[in-house]
Amino acid sequence: MLLDTYGRQAVDLRVSLTDRCNLRCTYCMPEEGLQWLAKPDLLTDEEIVRLVGIAVRDLGVTEVRFTGGEPLLRPGLVGIVAACAGLEPRPELSLTTNGIGLARTAGALREAGLDRVNVSLDTLDEDTFFTLTRRRRHQDVLAGLAAAEEAGLTPVKLNAVLMRGVNDHEAADLLGWCLDHGYELRFIEQMPLDAQHGWDRSQMVTAEEILELLRRRFTLTPEPSTARGAAPAERWLVDGGPGRVGVIASVTRPFCRACDRTRLTADGQIRNCLFATDETDLRGALRDGGSDAEIGELWRKAMWGKKAGAGIDDPSFLQPDRPMSAIGG
Ligand code: GTP
Ligand code: 5AD
Ligand code: SF4
Repeated sequence: MLLDTYGRQAVDLRVSLTDRCNLRCTYCMPEEGLQWLAKPDLLTDEEIVRLVGIAVRDLGVTEVRFTGGEPLLRPGLVGIVAACAGLEPRPELSLTTNGIGLARTAGALREAGLDRVNVSLDTLDEDTFFTLTRRRRHQDVLAGLAAAEEAGLTPVKLNAVLMRGVNDHEAADLLGWCLDHGYELRFIEQMPLDAQHGWDRSQMVTAEEILELLRRRFTLTPEPSTARGAAPAERWLVDGGPGRVGVIASVTRPFCRACDRTRLTADGQIRNCLFATDETDLRGALRDGGSDAEIGELWRKAMWGKKAGAGIDDPSFLQPDRPMSAIGG
């Protein structure tokens, strides 16, 4: 089991498959992109599957989420999903993507054993999409969403980050649109994980503001059965249900106390927290011929050292060197 000193158990593994991305969301990375990881530093498909295997067989992981950068850019994605779906016990498999390319791959991913997808979409307006992502790919995302639904990668969840003065006026429109399409929308508070270190708390659209924006058009009631548990999103029923909306308030209402996550980066490092400032190298152990038991032991130690919380409000808070796109969100 992956336990820490605060009594939490990590059962949800997030695997970053690449740090590259085909968008340039302003809250994530600069126009010119970043210094991408070098190919030899990336785990191979086989190495990833081996580590996921150790996690589910020996360490109690039950859910595996593939992230990026943009995971659809990983050539071996379908094969990785298929191999992970063949593991015993079979983990739940999901993907967090910007949706570009999903129109082409949703069917194959479903067949390979992917259970569901979360797609990032911050706006319904093509020009605002360009302002936010610096790329004209809005239509590709919409096509990807439709294909995911069609392929049965459900429930399809949408992630939206609101930026003040850019797309915050669209909050209620986005929700209306998602309700019409049967997608579960979650708004995410912007976190200090951008590569440019430009995050400014006073500019962040808070959960409270988001709810206020939505309440101008909808009636929100806390979802009755919310054992929020380890889920990052707090959820509300919209106009009495069954439609719902979530808010992931990582900054103003952190859910660290219930966190059940462990992370593997594309270059084989374990991070015990999104905001961790140190990492544990599993790639070295893998490539030095480490046994499953040895690698499992390193992983356990990495999680045991997990801090109580992200501490964004602590005066001593330091943004991790690794940006969101290289951690996997
Ligand atoms: P499901 O609701 O189970 O689909 O998972 P999820 O919401 O964790 O998945 P997703 O990958 O879509 O992440 C949504 C947002 O939550 C992203 O902005 C993540 O960065 C954020 N998030 C995920 N895990 C953590 C975490 O451990 N801590 C914090 N603060 N935010 C997280
Ligand atoms: N703060 C909050 N969410 C972010 N995302 C990317 N960068 C940030 C940030 N700094 C979101 C993406 C995607 C999800 C994985 O994380 O929009 O939906
Ligand atoms: Fe790409 Fe996601 Fe970063 Fe946007 S937030 S640039 S989609 S990695």
